[in-house]
Formats: sequence, C-alpha cells, structure tokens
Amino acid sequence: MKVSMIFLVSTLLLLSSSAFAKTVSPPSPPAESPTPAPAPAPTPDFVNLTELLTVAGPFHTFLQYLQSTKVLDTFQNQANNTEEGITIFVPKDSSFASLKKPSLSKLKDDEIKQVILFHALPHFYSLADFKNLSQTASTPTFAGGDYTLNFTDNSGTVKINSGWSITKVTSAVHATDPVAIYQVDKVLLPEAIFGTDIPPVLAPAPTPEIAPAADSPTEQSADSKSSSPSSSPDRSSSYKIVSYGIWGNLVLATFGLVVVIL
Ligand SMILES: *[C@@H]1O[C@H](CO)[C@@H](O)[C@H](O)[C@H]1NC(C)=O
Ligand SMILES: *[C@@H]1O[C@H](CO)[C@@H](O)[C@H](O)[C@H]1NC(C)=O
Ligand SMILES: *[C@@H]1O[C@H](CO)[C@@H](O)[C@H](O)[C@H]1NC(C)=O
Ligand SMILES: *[C@@H]1O[C@H](CO)[C@@H](O)[C@H](O)[C@H]1NC(C)=O
Repeated sequence: MKVSMIFLVSTLLLLSSSAFAKTVSPPSPPAESPTPAPAPAPTPDFVNLTELLTVAGPFHTFLQYLQSTKVLDTFQNQANNTEEGITIFVPKDSSFASLKKPSLSKLKDDEIKQVILFHALPHFYSLADFKNLSQTASTPTFAGGDYTLNFTDNSGTVKINSGWSITKVTSAVHATDPVAIYQVDKVLLPEAIFGTDIPPVLAPAPTPEIAPAADSPTEQSADSKSSSPSSSPDRSSSYKIVSYGIWGNLVLATFGLVVVIL
C-alpha cells in the first residue's frame, strides 16, 4: 500500500516534471519585431575603391599602379556613374613581388596603364555570372581591342586565362552591384603586350584543389551524409542521453518525495 503510494506519487512527480520540462525547456526564438523599420530612402551608394583596396589585401602595389596611371579615376567613374558597373581582378602584393619573367619593370608607362586596365571588365559580374561568362569565347576588358580574358567555371572555382597567366579567383573582396572586386592569385599579363610566344607551362603539379567558398556545400560532406553507415551509433547514443534523463528525473522525484515525507 505504502509502496504503491510512493510509486504513484513519484510517477506523478515524474510526469509533472517532464511536462514542465517540455513546456519550458525549448527556448523560444526571440520574436521578430512585428513592425519593420521603414526602408531608408534609396540613395545611390558611393563605393570608395581606394578605401576598399586599402583595407583588404594587401593590395598596395595594385593601388599604387591605379593611382600613378590615373586608371583609378576611370574605374571610380565607372563605379559612380554607370548602370553597367565594374568588375576588378586584384592581385595581392605578393603576386607582383613574385613576378620575375616577364616583369612590369621594363614596360613603358602606357603599357603599364594597359596592363592595369586589363584587370577590369566594364560590367558588374557576380561570382555566379562566371558560369555564363565561361560560354563566351573571349571577354573584353577595359583595355579594349585584343585585351581579352577567357573564363572557366569549374563548379564554383573561377579561372581566368590571359594567355600568359592562368589564375583563379581566390576571394570576393566586394560583390554588390555595381562593384565587384575579386582577389586573384597572379598578375594578369596580356598577349597584346607580351606577345604570343608564351613559354610552355610545365606539367602542373597535382595541387590539392582549394575548396570553394565555405558557403557552398562541398561534395564530400554530401557524400558522407548519404553513404555513411554510422547512423545507428548516433541513434543509440542519443537514446542513452534520453534514458539518463528519465533516470535523473526518477532520482529527483524520489528525492523530492523523501523530502516531502520527512
Ligand atoms: C575614399 O577613401 C580614401 C581612403 O580612405 C579617402 O582618402 C578618400 O577621401 C575617400 N574619397 C571620398 C570621395 O570619400
Ligand atoms: C565618385 O563619387 C564620389 C561621391 O559622390 C565623389 O566624391 C567622387 O569624386 C566621384 N569620383 C568620380 C571619378 O566620379
Ligand atoms: C549569358 O550570356 C549571354 C551572352 O553570352 C547573354 O546574352 C545572356 O543574357 C547571359 N545570361 C545571363 C543569365 O546572364
Ligand atoms: C580564349 O578562347 C578563344 C576561343 O577558344 C581562343 O581563340 C583564345 O586564344 C583564348 N584566349 C586566351 C587568352 O586563352
């Protein structure tokens, strides 16, 4: 009689404690403010190229070339005043430093200017647009004429072929219409200046592909999810946690009962 009483009471305690846990434990997400702030009046955003290139990178060498050739004004004007926008490929300082042969040091001023103009397209392209752009045989750059680039998009990895250099987009510094700035591994060297007598590229060492941007799910993780046979250990461990929880509740309930009786 007494034993069944204890059992009944502890069961009731257990039930009420788990009911309490159920109603209280899931932290409800903070409710969205029902009245959204009024959208600010659409002001034409001024994207300060100098500032962007100063804080990212380091892109000091490219920025210096932009300033000394006054190409900066051309690019900033395109960013400020056109619907088309602009896409700029920016090599890091280390890419300029590692440029030995051919180097930019022997070029005349107007050739340097062409090389810098060669690093931009007179249109805004998001990273997703390069899939489409890779269907195009050759894409004109700001340098005009024969100064074209070829793009390939291999599942999100964008490669750029200038003739003399094949490089890839390694990160997006800024990609909001109308201004896209992408970091590239190498200085883009145009055939129109350096000629078509390009030294044969040595067989490329099988370098491990750098994973695409972290926001795109990799194939690997998809694989491990679909083909992994290890789902049952997971389930049993979560079952264990659940049963510990029940035992914990029982112990607590019994303890509470003892306290009540005393
Ligand atoms: C752009 O940024 C640079 C570097 O921060 C600054 O010196 C310059 O005044 C800015 N230009 C404008 C128009 O705000
Ligand atoms: C771009 O816009 C900014 C802000 O309106 C202005 O200060 C700057 O002179 C403009 N630059 C060019 C090249 O149009
Ligand atoms: C893809 O490129 C072609 C030109 O090659 C262009 O006409 C078309 O509008 C582009 N499509 C998109 C979705 O950007
Ligand atoms: C770009 O592709 C076109 C067409 O396939 C080709 O004729 C041209 O030589 C390529 N240019 C470069 C720089 O690889």
